[in-house]
Amino acid sequence: MPLQRESQNIKVYRSYPQPYEAQRVAETGPLLLQDFHLARDPALIIESLAHFHRERIPERGAGAHGYFETTTDVGKKYSMADIFQRVGEKTPITMRFSTVGGNVFETNVFSTYLRPVTGEEGSADVWNNTPVFFIRDPAKFPNFIHTQKRNPQTHLKDKDMFWDYLSSNPESLYQVMRLFSDLGTPYGFRHMNGWSGHTYRLVKEDGSWHYVKFHALTDQGIKNHTIAEANILAGTNPDFGTQDLFEAIEAKNYPSWTVYIQALTPKAAETFKYNVLDLTKDWSYEDVPPQEIGRLHLTQNPKNYFAEIEQVAFAPGHMVEGVEPSEDPVLQSRLFAYPDAQRYRLGVNYQTIPVCCVLLYYLPNFQRDGRAVHDDNQGSRPNYPSSLEKLNLPKRPYNDANHTIWVGGAVRYLSTVSEIDFAWPKIFWYNLTKQDQDNFVGNVVGHLGMATSDVVKKRQTALFAKVDHSLGQRIAHGINITLS
Ligand code: HEM
Repeated sequence: MPLQRESQNIKVYRSYPQPYEAQRVAETGPLLLQDFHLARDPALIIESLAHFHRERIPERGAGAHGYFETTTDVGKKYSMADIFQRVGEKTPITMRFSTVGGNVFETNVFSTYLRPVTGEEGSADVWNNTPVFFIRDPAKFPNFIHTQKRNPQTHLKDKDMFWDYLSSNPESLYQVMRLFSDLGTPYGFRHMNGWSGHTYRLVKEDGSWHYVKFHALTDQGIKNHTIAEANILAGTNPDFGTQDLFEAIEAKNYPSWTVYIQALTPKAAETFKYNVLDLTKDWSYEDVPPQEIGRLHLTQNPKNYFAEIEQVAFAPGHMVEGVEPSEDPVLQSRLFAYPDAQRYRLGVNYQTIPVCCVLLYYLPNFQRDGRAVHDDNQGSRPNYPSSLEKLNLPKRPYNDANHTIWVGGAVRYLSTVSEIDFAWPKIFWYNLTKQDQDNFVGNVVGHLGMATSDVVKKRQTALFAKVDHSLGQRIAHGINITLS
């Protein structure tokens, strides 16, 4: 007798699987592709992310072309990457600024997105206008983003979802505080900084390496809108940032950003005051001084926005010899996430779209066919590493034998929150001017006050009170709750 599936009327209720854990090598090692648990189990990070990429295509922003200029020999001191070897060398770039998580001036996150696209050089890709992020456990990402989108029933922005997530995951607090300060409403794209956020590694020919963070500091000076100004612009000119960038470049008022690295030896990283793989923590300039490596210039508007900006496939995995990822699990997840989104959104041959394909001219590979081939499909070149043809198949120029920092078995890992997670929120708060503090309180009160759940409001306000008691009191007063 053939096996029959159980009746469709029988609903099996089982508990949700733990959605936030990810499997990695020891507590500080890279993520594991073997992280299968149960088929369709959202705890499986690849499945969870791959589904997330297919949910909807996020909004983009503005973009332009220009170049990266190597201004010092600092990069050369730390890395074999060609881009750093000659002071004065200029490498073309394309840069896109995208808004994240909602409407411009509403959720207030802007993202800076940088990509040198010449020759064999890869990119400094997909940065943010903040040095830290909301999460350090990658499996939280799709869940967190869901809370910033729309309610599944009302299709409205939902302040309860928004703050329920943030108040339940306090490691987000420093990023939340940056977001709700006036830094969250930058004056267009030219007046904000960009950060890699993640720790990367710069590697030399002999295999020695440093942990680094990249910063791109605006040469135009930081300038922000207040929430009142931003709200007016949201109604009158929501494209303000795009217009401001385009018109500045047309007027030959070219914006630029000076790029710095902060570098730590692996030994120093072991005893550094924060886990260097924790994306919710910044490195202060007192602890790790910045060193200039170059300057980004934007000098050319696109002739066709869609072809030259919208279609660019940026990804943190676009790294060249001399730049390597760290074991930061969020970065490791993103190495998979962006190309996966692009294979789906732009098609499997996205790398042959003209604005994305510069690498292809220099680095032929053995990929072939599939939907929408945009060029000659690599002509008659072999589609496998043929021993019958003289192929130039150089080894990767170095191996990573010096990188032995993580050892141990596979663990299911989920970080826990402790006192140290309040260190940066405190530094940030006490460094704001009185006016900036007042604006921050007003911004939070205006947003958190619209949540309906007292549980959520109290939980988030208690977090602000842990940063500074009077801050908590001011917010509690503003949203009409009592601090417990
Ligand atoms: C596990 C964590 C994360 C995942 C899975 C993720 C995934 C994604 C995906 C799939 C996109 C759309 C890409 C495309 O359509 O081409 C995106 C956009 C973006 N992400 Fe992330 N992201 C994560 C964390 C971060 C972090 C930490 C940063 C900043 C340091 C960041 C910066 C950006 C930016 C700037 C964009 C806009 C890119 C564009 O203009 O195409 N993301 N993210």
